[in-house]
Amino acid sequence: MAFTFFFRDLTPLEHAVRFLIVAASGRSRVRIWDAGCAMGQEPYTLGILLAEQMNQFAFRNVTISATDYDEPLLKVLREGVYPRDELQRIPTELFAKYFQPNGKEGHYQVVDAIRERIQAQHHDLLSLQPCGSGFSLVVCKNVLLHFQPDQRCDVIRMFHGAMEPGAIFVTEHTQKMPDEVGHLFEQLVSDSQVFRKREVPA
Ligand SMILES: C[S@@+](CC[C@H](N)C(=O)[O-])C[C@H]1O[C@@H](n2cnc3c(N)ncnc32)[C@H](O)[C@@H]1O
Repeated sequence: MAFTFFFRDLTPLEHAVRFLIVAASGRSRVRIWDAGCAMGQEPYTLGILLAEQMNQFAFRNVTISATDYDEPLLKVLREGVYPRDELQRIPTELFAKYFQPNGKEGHYQVVDAIRERIQAQHHDLLSLQPCGSGFSLVVCKNVLLHFQPDQRCDVIRMFHGAMEPGAIFVTEHTQKMPDEVGHLFEQLVSDSQVFRKREVPA
């Protein structure tokens, strides 16, 4: 259930980064929630994509809350150390820039500049209590498919409530937005499940 890898689902993440950078321009705080982040490959990918697109001062305003309900997975994320064979998909120049050899043979650690932007937090999505508020971007990929249809809608409503006006929501390519919550979001691109929050009357 925790299957994941670096640079997975790159197209929706690249779209999200593009929309986010426009929306967050000039802001002193940019909050991102990666929900169901497993061992960290996804939030670190997101961090690398953002670091590549933002200037270093703007990037320091970014916080990625990386949450999962499986504590042992979060331990891997907090260390940010991965074997070389799990890093093969990362473009060579990005690997050289954002990973450094770890004391352990054949292992590499994500550089501090990216790790400092990630806050690992234990969180169960089915508690329906958000891990924070005012998020500019929520990424929840390859998680909702494990839930019952009504749970899926409840979790998406929770995300909507935790997002700031105009924020971006990303889920995986195969996950269609359920009709019951479709009015809460506007789909932004035709090739990916990338949405913008709509304001709805209470
Ligand atoms: C297949 S992984 C997806 C990892 C990453 N998002 C990706 O797309 O590569 C699914 C993750 O969802 C987490 N998960 C499943 N149910 C959850 C829940 N109720 N609350 C929080 N995380 C959950 C699992 O622990 C697992 O790490």
